Amino acid sequence: MMATLFALLVLSCSLFSQTLAIAPRVHQGCTAVGFHVYCYGGYQSATHGGFTNISSDHISADLSSIDTTSATPTFDNWTTLDTSNLVGVRALFSITALDDTRYMIAGGRLLNATMDTPAVLYDTSNNTWSALSTPPFYTYGGIIMSSDASTTWAYGGKLNGTQQTAPSNTLKLDLTSLPGTWTPHAGGVGNPGKGRYGHAAIFQDELIFYFGGFYPPPSPGNASIPVTMMNISFYNTVSDQWGLIYSGGDQPRTRRHHTATLISSSKVLIYGGTGSDMIQALPLLDYCYIYDMVTHNYTLIDPGKGNFDGPLMGHSVVQYKHYVYIMFGYNSGGYLSNDVHVLDVMNASNPTWASGSSPSPSEPDRTNKGAIIGGVIGGVVFVAIIAGALIYWRRKKRTSPTTRNDFDIDQPQPPPAFTAPTFLGKSPDTYAMGDAVPVYQSRKPDDSSSPAVPTIKPSAAE
Ligand SMILES: *[C@@H]1O[C@H](CO)[C@@H](O)[C@H](O)[C@H]1NC(C)=O
Ligand SMILES: *[C@@H]1O[C@H](CO)[C@@H](O)[C@H](O)[C@H]1NC(C)=O
Ligand SMILES: *[C@@H]1O[C@H](CO)[C@@H](O)[C@H](O)[C@H]1NC(C)=O
Ligand SMILES: *[C@@H]1O[C@H](CO)[C@@H](O)[C@H](O)[C@H]1NC(C)=O
Ligand SMILES: *[C@@H]1O[C@H](CO)[C@@H](O)[C@H](O)[C@H]1NC(C)=O
Ligand SMILES: *[C@@H]1O[C@H](CO)[C@@H](O)[C@H](O)[C@H]1NC(C)=O
Ligand SMILES: *[C@@H]1O[C@H](CO)[C@@H](O)[C@H](O)[C@H]1NC(C)=O
Ligand SMILES: *[C@@H]1O[C@H](CO)[C@@H](O)[C@H](O)[C@H]1NC(C)=O
Ligand SMILES: *[C@@H]1O[C@H](CO)[C@@H](O)[C@H](O)[C@H]1NC(C)=O
Repeated sequence: MMATLFALLVLSCSLFSQTLAIAPRVHQGCTAVGFHVYCYGGYQSATHGGFTNISSDHISADLSSIDTTSATPTFDNWTTLDTSNLVGVRALFSITALDDTRYMIAGGRLLNATMDTPAVLYDTSNNTWSALSTPPFYTYGGIIMSSDASTTWAYGGKLNGTQQTAPSNTLKLDLTSLPGTWTPHAGGVGNPGKGRYGHAAIFQDELIFYFGGFYPPPSPGNASIPVTMMNISFYNTVSDQWGLIYSGGDQPRTRRHHTATLISSSKVLIYGGTGSDMIQALPLLDYCYIYDMVTHNYTLIDPGKGNFDGPLMGHSVVQYKHYVYIMFGYNSGGYLSNDVHVLDVMNASNPTWASGSSPSPSEPDRTNKGAIIGGVIGGVVFVAIIAGALIYWRRKKRTSPTTRNDFDIDQPQPPPAFTAPTFLGKSPDTYAMGDAVPVYQSRKPDDSSSPAVPTIKPSAAE
């Protein structure tokens, strides 16, 4: 009943704004391979405080054909690829491109089912899926990153079908000869001592930097602990060491299901996310930051008013040339989104929505109010909208107006030499949590736990 109502409302709202080219979704995975973006899976319905209707949609679009000068540079030219394959229905998995023709998917969330092929490779040159070796464990809400065409690194997330966060071990996958070989890396010096989930990551110069997410509860039944965005953990894929960067500048709220994108040699775009550990949680309103890898400072960005309300969580981001495509996700009106929004990051210090209409940052906050009014008319997720309005009102009192630091444009300059952050050395007490450096468990992590919740309660933590 509620699901039907919701679907009808989404449909009616969508008809007013734009064509219903592709189903709205959240917690899908997208990656850019060559000139194309490939997206897989996700949840396509939201109901009773949860997300449902896990999909096996495998879609692709040509990034080079998008008219970024249009006032609404969204695209509706998705091509549906196979609908039945080794991956099956899946959400909250990790995805990474390997080279200009291949990408891989690992882990993810299924309701109630065992994942036969946790890790799968897709070759876009002949549209063929192939199963990769089964990892020692797999997770949902984790990250996988490739460092080159034949090496990937998986970290964090919750163990398949459970609420248990994976140990703080990196899983290396060597794809030199298929189906690949997984090796656990305990990560010696400076290991955070506990895994995390819902984090975002970038890869730069042999290091993987992890932004935010949540640590598991200190003991069963306690709440998970958000990881401060100001302390950025990094893992050296060559030396197998961990470190921590203390950062300055504007302080982003803690978050999960945000994205991190390296948009120039030294700038990282942090986009979206939610501060809550609930499943169907509204996105944060401080949704856009630039993190400087050299000065280690955050700057809160107002990319201007595009044709939509900016906050999202569970969205996907791919980069093509100097455009960043922000796709799908759960928005501040309480809707799943099928939109693709384009940020022009030519000036990596100052991203703006790529559109014919020039952004006007001083303009009153029109789109946010529009979203709230539209939401009330729609009558959807009524409580959520009130909460969103409250948060918005409180936030507005606290953080406006947006302040910006002045950075020089760094796109046309030669890349600066990478300044390696200081390693923690032998001071594990720098970590407040104080956990001992874990030893990799040769035993598989809790396989015996009962599988995922069959129905999602409104208050259920993910
Ligand atoms: C699942 O999503 C698809 C695509 O949006 C939709 O057609 C279908 O009705 C949904 N099913 C349920 C049970 O919500
Ligand atoms: C949509 O994509 C198809 C296949 O890639 C292509 O042939 C067609 O020209 C595209 N249409 C538009 C309007 O871009
Ligand atoms: C999940 O598994 C339980 C027990 O096997 C079953 O009763 C329930 O119908 C399943 N739910 C779904 C969505 O498959
Ligand atoms: C979890 O992963 C293990 C190892 O891959 C597998 O044996 C088990 O069936 C999985 N459990 C679920 C619920 O998917
Ligand atoms: C697809 O292409 C890849 C790379 O060229 C090749 O290794 C693989 O065997 C091909 N698969 C099929 C089914 O042709
Ligand atoms: C953990 O949970 C217990 C019992 O639910 C509670 O008494 C305790 O205060 C909690 N600790 C923290 C740090 O939240
Ligand atoms: C970084 O942020 C701190 C704290 O806001 C500030 O004092 C410092 O000047 C900033 N540094 C740069 C290079 O922007
Ligand atoms: C890039 O953006 C920054 C911050 O808004 C600005 O100070 C700088 O002048 C811009 N550079 C160019 C070349 O527009
Ligand atoms: C970063 O970590 C240090 C050491 O654990 C801690 O003292 C500090 O409070 C953290 N920073 C923030 C903003 O929480």
